[in-house]
Amino acid sequence: MDIKNKVALVTGGAKRVGRTIALELAEHGANLVINYNSSKKEADEIVELIRKTGRKAIAVKADVSKADEVAKLVDVALNKFERVDILMNNAAIFFKTPFLEITEEDWDLFMNVNLKSAFLCSQKVAKVMLERGSGKIINIADAAGGIKGWKSYIPYSVSKAGLIMLTKTMAKALAPNIHVNAIAPGPVLLPENYSEKEKKRAIESTLLKRLGSPEDIAKAVIFLVKSDYITGETITVDGGNLIS
Ligand SMILES: NC(=O)c1ccc[n+]([C@@H]2O[C@H](COP(=O)([O-])OP(=O)(O)OC[C@H]3O[C@@H](n4cnc5c(N)ncnc54)[C@H](OP(=O)(O)O)[C@@H]3O)[C@@H](O)[C@H]2O)c1
Repeated sequence: MDIKNKVALVTGGAKRVGRTIALELAEHGANLVINYNSSKKEADEIVELIRKTGRKAIAVKADVSKADEVAKLVDVALNKFERVDILMNNAAIFFKTPFLEITEEDWDLFMNVNLKSAFLCSQKVAKVMLERGSGKIINIADAAGGIKGWKSYIPYSVSKAGLIMLTKTMAKALAPNIHVNAIAPGPVLLPENYSEKEKKRAIESTLLKRLGSPEDIAKAVIFLVKSDYITGETITVDGGNLIS
């Protein structure tokens, strides 16, 4: 797909990795719908930044774990741009949950924010993409969490593993015109509250012995959007990691 003049919706696009993905898509000529939940200020800032490059952009508040808010988000996007060509399911939560302390609320929260949101957004957007005859959906999973699994982050890991299966099954359901893929990042931008020990462990877990960057993920996004013979795949971008 040629990205120029296409419309991309990035969930959780106001900050960190989502922000970098949105800016890279704009750099390649896309107009942007920046979804945010709590980061209004940052969402408004990135919209301004994108508009300065000559592209169009809007910020839309929505809790993407809720069907009614997702419906409104997509309606606002369609009212503004009449299309969504690229959907980036990027929004997520991440925090430690030792197994014996996991509550039902924790479990539901991870499944709703990290997994159900991608289903809700994809189903709503896919209807429009199918009418237009094309579309790209990219889910941001997690290499360590979603593929290998972390004992202290079980609901997170299960939600990301589910996202990888959602990717495969939606690719089948939406073929041939809509391509659905996932990117499984490694440590590209550590949580702000990580200790030095956790940071060192993350670096040591990679074969390349360094952290990646949000730009590494954005590059993979551009590759997948431009590629028209890949669907149902998960691309791992984690600096190499043989610990399983
Ligand atoms: N950072 C890494 O090294 C890394 C590694 C592996 C995988 N990943 C994955 O890559 C993606 C981006 O990572 P990140 O570190 O940038 O993520 P993040 O900072 O933890 O979260 C990204 C955004 O998700 C949004 N969000 C959370 N709950 C939401 C909800 N209910 N509705 C709408 N938005 C919601 C937040 O928006 P607001 O701020 O507006 O509330 C937040 O800014 C995530 O899917 C993450 O799991 C990241």
